[in-house]
Amino acid sequence: MKLSYYGHASFILEISGKQLLLDPFIASNPNVENFDVTNLKPDYILVSHAHGDHIADLETIVKHSKAKLISNYEIISYYAQKGIEGHAMNHGGKYQFEFGTIKYVNAVHTSSFPDGANGGQPGGFVVWNDQNCIYFAGDTALTLDMKLIPMSCPKLDAAVLPIGDNFTMGYEDAAIAAEFIKCDTIVACHYNTFPPISINVDEARKTFEEKGIKLHTPAFGESLEF
Ligand code: NI
Ligand code: MN
Repeated sequence: MKLSYYGHASFILEISGKQLLLDPFIASNPNVENFDVTNLKPDYILVSHAHGDHIADLETIVKHSKAKLISNYEIISYYAQKGIEGHAMNHGGKYQFEFGTIKYVNAVHTSSFPDGANGGQPGGFVVWNDQNCIYFAGDTALTLDMKLIPMSCPKLDAAVLPIGDNFTMGYEDAAIAAEFIKCDTIVACHYNTFPPISINVDEARKTFEEKGIKLHTPAFGESLEF
């Protein structure tokens, strides 16, 4: 399982020979220069919720890749009206795809589209195959529901957690989340993109280290293998 970071909360997960793109906000990211998203050819795009910083590049990428969406019912219905194909899920449900299983899990956040349309309830994704399991929390507060993940999914190899505070949990709460989900390999996201989510990354790393948890903060384009 290979995970590549594309800034903010955008990742590509390579699993069972398929590419899953998470929350595409890449060329639209104010910190990213000269990145052509039309070169991305994901097989699927996973959308945690409808906020602009998670979908801004979605339509361009779909046009050039024919990627299929996986998200909640309201987000899939919204894009279906634009002729974009997808697979709708809802909280607590899992489904076996050609690359493995996805469970759509709870997140505590909001989810309206930039145009005001209803984006349903926000969520996170637990993705696994026979070898590996990874959790993408999406934008969320620390929530006790996270304790259900190790009880109801395979053992996590890694988890992607927001650490930027203000709109989501900050790194102190994310370190508690890592304990809730029983995962000692965490990949940081949703920080240092805009002023309200600017954080001290060394302090964040230290907070996790004190709990014996490794916090990965990959550079743009960097890949991690699990
Ligand atoms: Ni959001
Ligand atoms: Mn966000």
